[in-house]
Amino acid sequence: MLILGLESSCDETAAALVTGDRQVLAHRLLGQEAAHAPYGGVVPEIAARAHVEALEPLVAAALKDAGVTLADVDAVAATAGPGLIGGVMVGLVTGKALAHAANKPLVAVNHLEGHALSPRLSDPDLDFPYLLLLVSGGHCQLLLVEGVARYRRLATTIDDAAGEAFDKTAKILGLGFPGGPAVERAAAEGDPSAVPLPRPLLRSPEPHFSFAGLKAAVARAANDHAPADLAASFQAAVVDCLIDRTRRALDRAGPVSALVVAGGVAANSAIRSALQALAAAHDLRFVAPPLWLCTDNAAMIAWAGAERFAAGLTDPLDAPARARWPL
Ligand code: KG4
Ligand code: ZN
Repeated sequence: MLILGLESSCDETAAALVTGDRQVLAHRLLGQEAAHAPYGGVVPEIAARAHVEALEPLVAAALKDAGVTLADVDAVAATAGPGLIGGVMVGLVTGKALAHAANKPLVAVNHLEGHALSPRLSDPDLDFPYLLLLVSGGHCQLLLVEGVARYRRLATTIDDAAGEAFDKTAKILGLGFPGGPAVERAAAEGDPSAVPLPRPLLRSPEPHFSFAGLKAAVARAANDHAPADLAASFQAAVVDCLIDRTRRALDRAGPVSALVVAGGVAANSAIRSALQALAAAHDLRFVAPPLWLCTDNAAMIAWAGAERFAAGLTDPLDAPARARWPL
């Protein structure tokens, strides 16, 4: 089985070819950081136009890398949401056009499902059910992944996503965009106990996340502390919140095969090692995809497409693009 995957829901344009037996034959990606950096965040209109320009050449390059043609593909998988609607439409319409032209089935993939199943692309031994901490720029959720198309949301954020908190903190500290990697680099030079910051909802019986208060506290402290100390203190507070909520979910989830992390924020090594320790304390396997598979990419969309296609789940050519689409 060979699946072409397309991703365009935020600020990465990507195309990939993945087989049913987990071979990534090609994955091409074009980031738009430079286009958005002057604005300190992703500008939807700029993103959509950039996807229009980038996607077709990326698909052609990916097919060439893999040494295949569209005729060799079994299905075309495209992100159909959630995300910035202009970009989602570009990728989905391109996917529909390719599927129609080559007479192949379309798989309309939820971007979150792409993140949720991506650990199974890099780890053939990862079985359902597993507890997934999905931490990205737009989402912060704990999901019980029971099977393909079977997800139970145990927690979500009541305000900002974890990646959003990293990005806003970077902006406050003048560290640039995208914020996550910049904050992590600055934090390596700082003292995590230098600035007392709140841990919103810590030990609360409610399962959810909250980061708005933490971000506000960083803004209030910004004039009185070195950016490196603030970055380190902020990162430590995020780690404490993520671990506390994940521990609570593990206690309530029932038996799971592994603790899994995915999404762009999973690239953070402090967060990874804290989760690894939590998994070890619960006698659980810890699974984290390689960094390139954590941040947005098309291989995860192709893989989710492969899993759905194998389960008989394809979509009509009038499948809608959705800005909001809970799993
Ligand atoms: O999954 P992703 O690529 O896009 C979304 O679907 O949102 O995640 C991007 C987010 C951004 O907020 C970025 O700042 C964050 O992931 N991120 C990180 C790191 N690398 C990326 N956050 C913390 N530490 C990192 N090393
Ligand atoms: Zn994402």
